[in-house]
Amino acid sequence: MRILFLGAPGAGKGTQCKKLASKYSLAHLSSGDILRDAVKNGTQAGLAAKEFMDKGMLVPDNVLIDLFREKLAQPACSKGFILDGFPRNLAQAESLDGLLSELKANLDKVIDLKTADDLLEERITGRRVCPNKACNAVYHIKFSKPKQDGVCDLCGTELSHRSDDKPELVKQRLSVYHELTSPLIEFYRGKQLLATVNGEGEQEQIFADILATLN
Ligand code: AP5
Repeated sequence: MRILFLGAPGAGKGTQCKKLASKYSLAHLSSGDILRDAVKNGTQAGLAAKEFMDKGMLVPDNVLIDLFREKLAQPACSKGFILDGFPRNLAQAESLDGLLSELKANLDKVIDLKTADDLLEERITGRRVCPNKACNAVYHIKFSKPKQDGVCDLCGTELSHRSDDKPELVKQRLSVYHELTSPLIEFYRGKQLLATVNGEGEQEQIFADILATLN
């Protein structure tokens, strides 16, 4: 199964992709996690990405395309994958088409997780993440609390706050989404791959709706 998720910042893409990847043993390729890892490790891609991420802007297309060319060719993706956060504009979507046709791997479905903008700021600013790369679990101080405040349920690591999850950057990230990423909804509708899922409400119900769409 090869699935792509679209949705605004904070729509719940990461949360739902993790559940889906675990249920079907799919590789979960999150562009944000891949970039944050590159920044942490001081790689060339990370050095190129940091200044854009700190401003809530898109990282240059060539950085993402090179990273995903490498990731998609890895054996971990041969049994299926979920793309979360890539592509993010039309140029990236066209490059992805090229990468997938080289790999003879078509997308099966594109899921647009739809959420009203006014819910997103609270979701993003209340998000807490596990910085342990092997875990990367996501929590929320109100909607998805860990059992012990500030500590990951799964691995016991102290939770952290993403540096781009500040209120002043949320508006910028949303405006980038509306201008550059939301046109992909029509792009994939035109390819008859698009399914829209309501991203508001309980996480378990949203997951059930995603499974229903895939089945
Ligand atoms: P990235 O890390 O991809 O951030 P994003 O798209 O802004 O998405 P988020 O991770 O903020 O949200 P999400 O939808 O995954 O929500 P989550 O499940 O965590 O990108 C970061 C930056 O990297 C970009 O700004 C850009 O600079 C760069 N970048 C990335 N990809 C790029 C690309 N392709 N090209 C160029 N640059 C790129 O949920 C959010 C919170 O809500 C959590 O706390 C969660 O617990 C909670 N929550 C989830 N579901 C629910 C629910 N149903 N009800 C209540 N709370 C919920």
